[in-house]
Amino acid sequence: MVVDGDRVVSTALLLDETVRIGDVVVPAGQVELVATDRAYEGRGLVRALMGWAHERSAARGHLLQVMIGIPYFYRLFGYEYVIDIPRARALADPPTAAGALALRGATRADLPALAALQDAAQSAYDVAVPHPSARRRWLLEHDASTTWVVERDGVVVGTVRTGAAEEGAEDVLVAEPAAADPAAAHLLLRAAVGRFPGATLHVVHRPLAVTGRAWGSLLAPPGETAEQYYVRLDHPERLLDALRPLLGARLRAAGLQRREVVLSTFGRHYRMTVADDGALGPVAVGGPMQDPGAHGAAGVAPTHLADLLLGPLGMHGLARRRPDVYPGRDVELFEALFPPMTADLLTYYLPW
Ligand SMILES: CC(C)(COP(=O)(O)OP(=O)(O)OC[C@H]1O[C@@H](n2cnc3c(N)ncnc32)[C@H](O)[C@@H]1OP(=O)(O)O)[C@@H](O)C(=O)NCCC(=O)NCCS
Repeated sequence: MVVDGDRVVSTALLLDETVRIGDVVVPAGQVELVATDRAYEGRGLVRALMGWAHERSAARGHLLQVMIGIPYFYRLFGYEYVIDIPRARALADPPTAAGALALRGATRADLPALAALQDAAQSAYDVAVPHPSARRRWLLEHDASTTWVVERDGVVVGTVRTGAAEEGAEDVLVAEPAAADPAAAHLLLRAAVGRFPGATLHVVHRPLAVTGRAWGSLLAPPGETAEQYYVRLDHPERLLDALRPLLGARLRAAGLQRREVVLSTFGRHYRMTVADDGALGPVAVGGPMQDPGAHGAAGVAPTHLADLLLGPLGMHGLARRRPDVYPGRDVELFEALFPPMTADLLTYYLPW
């Protein structure tokens, strides 16, 4: 934070997160609670704090940063929009309410059950950011949102987190839904309807999770405007290095044999040798490679690299939308290495 005398005039907070990409889990940073006192805006305080946060993030070994926040602003600090935020959709066809007491506030004793339910909900996604355990505890302590659970035979089988809903609110955000099985999902939704009588529930849709499959047909269509998480990648070789097991597995799964994999971001390029067993060697960083196609390499603008590695379009989709992303001659290789990715992120903020 920045202080002027005994007054705090600007803040930013760096959180430790993990991002699972396939079955590779990498440390990541998330900057939160960014704000400058009105009287001190426009003096470069947040630019300085972001620089500080990113230095610390790199020093802690974070391989990327993720965040959610002010539209456009964080592009100034190297972030790009990469991962779609699951949207809250109005519950158009509510089931019969269960009694208001079916949903109870979560306590610390529920933390292991909450973690297990959320891990299961995220397991079908290619990219997942769970709540770190410190944030799980923190979410129970503060009152900007409420974490609820539902039980069956004394066992927690479902959870949701709601925004700070006042009694009698017309609209209630029901986020982070997770349930043990379809029957538990049904019970959870009935309990949520019973807990907020008369309100329209806006339910975050997690299409690949139990709740998404159970409730999808009850929800109104999502909003059509884009909502995305930011990702920042300032040392791509570190993330590529960590992803070698995943990339090697994709090569093997596609039955492709190559001597090397080269990815150019035009100003630099990244080269990995491929062993006979398909294992990728350490990333060697080289200088400018303006014509990757001529070298059997793929090209990707540095601003789209995080999208290529984590985003929903993959090489095939990006190459059709961005002239500065292309697979070059070896389309089969680079489409196999960089498929479209599904993602589910849990953050302090709740998507509306
Ligand atoms: C937006 C906010 C964080 C900027 O803080 P600040 O200390 O005034 O920012 P800085 O002076 O360091 O500005 C950094 C850069 O951002 C630019 N900038 C500032 N506010 C901007 C905005 N809303 N949109 C786009 N650019 C902006 C500045 O021009 C500057 O650019 P430059 O370094 O290229 O000259 C501050 O105005 C604020 O606290 N807003 C309300 C709180 C909030 O919404 N927090 C977000 C929670 S995620």
